[in-house]
Amino acid sequence: MKISSHGADIFSASKESGIDENSIIDFSSNINPLGIHNNVRKAMINSIEYADRYPDIDCNKLINRLSIQEQVPREWIFCSNGAAEAIFRIVLYLKPHNAILTAPTFSEYEQSLKTVNCKIKYYNLSEDNNFKIKEDILDIIDQKTDIVFICNPNNPTGQLTDKNLLEKIILQCKKINAAVVIDECFIDFIEDKENYSVQDILKQYDNLIILKAFTKVYSIPGIRLGYCLCPNTTVIKGLKESGPPWNVSVIAQEAGIAALEEKEYVVKTIEYIKKERNYLINELNKYNIKIFDSYANYIFFKLECDEIDLKSEMLKRGILIRSCSNYRNISNEYYRIAVKKEHENKIFIEKLKDILVEK
Ligand SMILES: Cc1ncc(COP(=O)(O)O)c(C=O)c1O
Repeated sequence: MKISSHGADIFSASKESGIDENSIIDFSSNINPLGIHNNVRKAMINSIEYADRYPDIDCNKLINRLSIQEQVPREWIFCSNGAAEAIFRIVLYLKPHNAILTAPTFSEYEQSLKTVNCKIKYYNLSEDNNFKIKEDILDIIDQKTDIVFICNPNNPTGQLTDKNLLEKIILQCKKINAAVVIDECFIDFIEDKENYSVQDILKQYDNLIILKAFTKVYSIPGIRLGYCLCPNTTVIKGLKESGPPWNVSVIAQEAGIAALEEKEYVVKTIEYIKKERNYLINELNKYNIKIFDSYANYIFFKLECDEIDLKSEMLKRGILIRSCSNYRNISNEYYRIAVKKEHENKIFIEKLKDILVEK
């Protein structure tokens, strides 16, 4: 089976399975199951009217709105063509020589670091610790370290890192002039996110960059919109200058402005995901599956039977899941599924019953 380095590749999955891409149920990308909010859809449709001109190069209206929402000065915000673009710009601008990544984690940190020939040290997450980052990560940050990426909650494991530990990492890095990127792209799915987000300490650390995405929580991966927050305005300027201008389209800017109005939708999303995640976990527990604590809108699990290629089997049945076999430091027994709409989750469990035998 062809291994894609990401989830969400319904196009390759369709080619491989012969199933039309629109008929595949995609559990491999972790997008808000409530879908695009109607007001965001309307804003995008209306914005087509202005697509005959260049977008605002500085994303002024969107940044004004974000500055209120995030309670940071506008000068601390950089908007990007999806959070992935921000990752590449950060690396291109800072040009680190030595980086620290956890393993497993989101693959684009490594991809981007490779473009500047950066050496990478891995902090291996262990199943024995539920894939949690522990204090001993501090031992591998040394004078040579230029940048540390931490994904919180982590993709694919769903684990959150304690805020106290995050602050220790940031402080240690500040002392040696190293940057810390905390990827909070999934944090808006967390009920008590203020207990985990480092946003409230941002102003104390000019070596801290927080990464966020509209993609996941507002269900607009096809539009490409992300942003980062950093109190070091030289870095923000550097990010702007490290890639092409007009990186955020007219449609994406309008989608973002409209999305930020929909606070109730985010509250509803968190409630919905909690209910559906519990349903999926209860059902998965009926099989020889080890589920790791998951706090976000996806579930990471180990199928304790490595003869079954669950991704292939599911795809034959029209469902795309994320095999985690190409993440560092984990084997082919690990998978990640998104929490989707109630009826889709039921279909997933029905198909699983075809493949696995209950305990
Ligand atoms: C942890 C994490 N950060 C960033 C991104 C990139 O998001 P975007 O689609 O906004 O580029 C992803 C996408 O899957 C992700 O999982």
